[in-house]
Amino acid sequence: MGRGRRWNCFISWSVGVVLQLLFLFVNSQSLHRRTLPKNNIKADLPSPGVQLLQSNQQVVMSNGIVNITLTVPGGAITSISYNGSENLLETQDTKQGDRGYAYMYMHWDVVWNTPGGKGVTDNLEGTSYKVIMQNENQTEISFTRTWTVGSTIVPLNIDKRFVMLRGSPGFYSYAVLERLKGWPAYHIPEGRIVFKLQENIFHYMAIDDERQRFMPMPEDRITGQVLDYPEAVLLTNPTNPDFHGEVDDKYFYSCDDKDNKVHGWVGSDPTVGFWMITPSDEFRTGGPIKQDLTSHVGPIVLSMFISRHYAGEDLAVKFETDEYWKKVFGPVFIYINSNAAAKTNPSVLWKDAKQRMEKEAASWPYSFPLSEDFVKSNQRGTVSGQLLIRDWFVSEKAVPRESAYVGLAAPGEAGSWQFENKGYQFWTQTDSNGNFLIRNVIPGTYSLFAWVPGIIGDYKHAHDITITPRSNVEEKNMVFEAPRKAATLWEIGIPDRSAAEFFIPDPNPTFKIHPYGNNPIQKFRQYGLWTRYKDLYPDKDLVFTIGASNYSRDWFFAHVTRNVGNNKYVATTWQILFNLRTVDKGANYTLQLALASANNAELQVRINGPQSAPHFTTGLIGMDNALARHGIRGLYRFYSIDIGGSQLVVGNNTIFLKQARNEGPFREVMYDYIRLEGPA
Ligand SMILES: *[C@@H]1O[C@H](CO)[C@@H](O)[C@H](O)[C@H]1NC(C)=O
Ligand SMILES: *[C@@H]1O[C@H](CO)[C@@H](O)[C@H](O)[C@H]1NC(C)=O
Ligand SMILES: *[C@@H]1O[C@H](CO)[C@@H](O)[C@H](O)[C@H]1NC(C)=O
Ligand SMILES: *[C@@H]1O[C@H](CO)[C@@H](O)[C@H](O)[C@H]1NC(C)=O
Repeated sequence: MGRGRRWNCFISWSVGVVLQLLFLFVNSQSLHRRTLPKNNIKADLPSPGVQLLQSNQQVVMSNGIVNITLTVPGGAITSISYNGSENLLETQDTKQGDRGYAYMYMHWDVVWNTPGGKGVTDNLEGTSYKVIMQNENQTEISFTRTWTVGSTIVPLNIDKRFVMLRGSPGFYSYAVLERLKGWPAYHIPEGRIVFKLQENIFHYMAIDDERQRFMPMPEDRITGQVLDYPEAVLLTNPTNPDFHGEVDDKYFYSCDDKDNKVHGWVGSDPTVGFWMITPSDEFRTGGPIKQDLTSHVGPIVLSMFISRHYAGEDLAVKFETDEYWKKVFGPVFIYINSNAAAKTNPSVLWKDAKQRMEKEAASWPYSFPLSEDFVKSNQRGTVSGQLLIRDWFVSEKAVPRESAYVGLAAPGEAGSWQFENKGYQFWTQTDSNGNFLIRNVIPGTYSLFAWVPGIIGDYKHAHDITITPRSNVEEKNMVFEAPRKAATLWEIGIPDRSAAEFFIPDPNPTFKIHPYGNNPIQKFRQYGLWTRYKDLYPDKDLVFTIGASNYSRDWFFAHVTRNVGNNKYVATTWQILFNLRTVDKGANYTLQLALASANNAELQVRINGPQSAPHFTTGLIGMDNALARHGIRGLYRFYSIDIGGSQLVVGNNTIFLKQARNEGPFREVMYDYIRLEGPA
């Protein structure tokens, strides 16, 4: 940051203060003159009303607490100030050394491509600006763009909205995207709202109670050493010497969409917190345990609505020519807070933001958005019921399980929700009696799905559910017959769509683990764990003996290739040794095989013959890239594999699991759970 930069900041700050004083003055004048229109919005803080000040190229929205400036008619935010502060957004076009992404200010964007074509980023710039409502309690503005046949930009009609409420320390934004029947076919792999904050103000980032810290600076990524892919950089000369030897990678800060409700940054001088609050998961894709980015070095704050992260190409939204589509993304709330105590303990603003998130989530669906496409609570319906699970090996009776996931998504086969990306999804978890209640469902027809931690496979209710405004659907007698053909002979792991229970190594000592105070961190979120397999199994592959081995010590969390030097990788074959006292040669045994992740992999299963033709193969599967992204799961896959009794012997048997695709370090599967049943 040179001297010129500081002057720029000072000048924009001064202008900001002058504007702010002007608003306060104008506001206090108007308060004296007019009585306020009555509505139900209660101010959080005593504040003058919301004001809108429009000039040629920009519009300023202010409520005396927060002040945002947007381009007209584009609708990008160029400035956000809080309580008279300088602009909290970065105003210089800085590269991050992160695949050259350049973020500036704030914008909505989508990446789109024609089938087979290259991805193009479109910042969803408006071409027309309109005030939807303007009064002292609520102001909503809209930036629209209409697609015309023949245009080469993304075939979408766009309505981008910004809402400010009286006394509310922040603002809301949402977007309505629409494509009409007959428009060209194309894909949308990414869609998001993103903010780049001032790097000389914001240094502390918080994602959850554990993952919060002072962060490296963007320039540390440029002076550092790029590792196995451009996102991961070893900090060799960081501004803060404490971070020397750490790796920075935005994927360290990913989280499950169901938990991705608030994250952001705390600044010093001014001491303010800047938070992305996403009060509902209904408009994201792929269901509750799809993972995505949050905040990262930049300082970047984003909310991803559409992405392939931890899932792959399956999650790109793909439109055919004859398809109509319309969807509302958001509103998200940009919350700004301050507290003098945050100067010494920035976490106080995280705690406050978490409380604010609870409050926002509790008022979902919001009553204030004025687009008729945003469905209000009195137009939504409810589904309730009870889910029981029958696994006769465990108990004859169907029994409830706490925390089973129950959800509504576009009609499809069992488990299809994890690929679903055009509609809305509504999920909840059962109580200890298996009861569930899904409120605020947008009218439409859905399949009712469930999956249950502790149980393999997927549940789909016998009939689809149609929701109409204020409808109240009750579904009793939902019984999930857990997949099972015979008694369990042995099992490895816990069926919960994650590999977290297996052995997760420490990272290579070259990479320093960030201490995160004294808080524990999820062990799998470390760089380079894939290289540790070779260290643990330098020439012989993993062998797991039923009855003697322990999966939390002896089952490596990811079935990876082995690096044999010179950038060459070889396939690896794991063995499960087990003893059978008797074998029913005429019956089938069943290998229940659940995968938590797959990336350009092929898993082959052989029985008692390592060189034989595979008894079963998955074929080439998966593009979820979960291992490289420090995830512990991607997309879930479940296979029920018959094994003829004639292939088994009394005494020692071996199942060989070969991950046969060996091109590179990131070809892998992660197992969720393996069980041998039989004889049927
Ligand atoms: C705004 O700034 C003033 C003066 O710096 C301070 O007294 C006041 O507490 C601040 N208000 C908020 C809501 O942060
Ligand atoms: C398996 O290993 C883990 C981790 O070392 C240990 O906590 C657990 O008790 C072991 N389980 C058994 C059955 O020995
Ligand atoms: C065993 O499984 C095979 C393959 O699925 C099937 O063709 C066969 O009928 C089964 N045999 C018995 C006895 O169930
Ligand atoms: C069977 O496997 C066990 C455990 O690996 C081993 O101790 C035993 O020697 C094996 N028996 C035979 C007959 O190979």
